[in-house]
Amino acid sequence: MSDESPYILVLYYSRGGHTADMAMQIARGVARVTGITARVRTVPPVSPDTDASVPAVPEEGAVYATVDDLRHCAGLALGSATRFGNMAAPLKHFLDQTGDLWLNGALVDKPAGVFTSTGSLHGGQEATLLTMAVPLMHHGMLLTGIPYTEPALGRTQAGGTPYGPSHWAGTDQPHPVTDDEKAICQRLGERLASLATRLSTTD
Ligand SMILES: Cc1cc2nc3c(=O)[nH]c(=O)nc-3n(C[C@H](O)[C@H](O)[C@H](O)COP(=O)(O)O)c2cc1C
Repeated sequence: MSDESPYILVLYYSRGGHTADMAMQIARGVARVTGITARVRTVPPVSPDTDASVPAVPEEGAVYATVDDLRHCAGLALGSATRFGNMAAPLKHFLDQTGDLWLNGALVDKPAGVFTSTGSLHGGQEATLLTMAVPLMHHGMLLTGIPYTEPALGRTQAGGTPYGPSHWAGTDQPHPVTDDEKAICQRLGERLASLATRLSTTD
């Protein structure tokens, strides 16, 4: 961990804004815990000439993450819009640049959680969450989901899983994030912040 104040990195890829809305709810949950903050970051889109064509700063929304944002975080919430039951390529592209962190064990024993948004209700939310969990396990992170003590998990009529927050974005008529989905996002943020705080006192 670095000398700077501890933060939970909320890192996501979103094209239509739904996953970005979830990220902000997760940041709200982080804010419930004193002594730690949320750092919300995104990743640029990819294309065949991706590294040459990306502007340094996005036109709107969160700024782009650096590998150092990840290196120095106290915990991580990693989110992506679902692409064929998988995380989107831009997020994978970012993770593929973190070999140095893996070699040096920079993320070992830090708490992490994953979140996603899908177009259809049964379009692969859990599958996508697991694709994001796998590289974080290689990094030695401590994966946490959502416990059923969170009432919204048993009540939701849309997204929300014990593997992590999810959102049913819809296709023809986009759905806003529901109150239950928000509660589940906030619970992840609060849980990561609380776990990171507790783990840092046991170093
Ligand atoms: C190439 C592509 C693949 C997609 N694959 C899936 C899928 O497997 N399951 C699903 O439900 N939705 C799928 N979608 C829909 C997106 O997951 C959905 O629009 C997304 O949740 C929107 O998130 P965003 O607003 O954060 O970009 C796909 C969309 C695209 C463009």
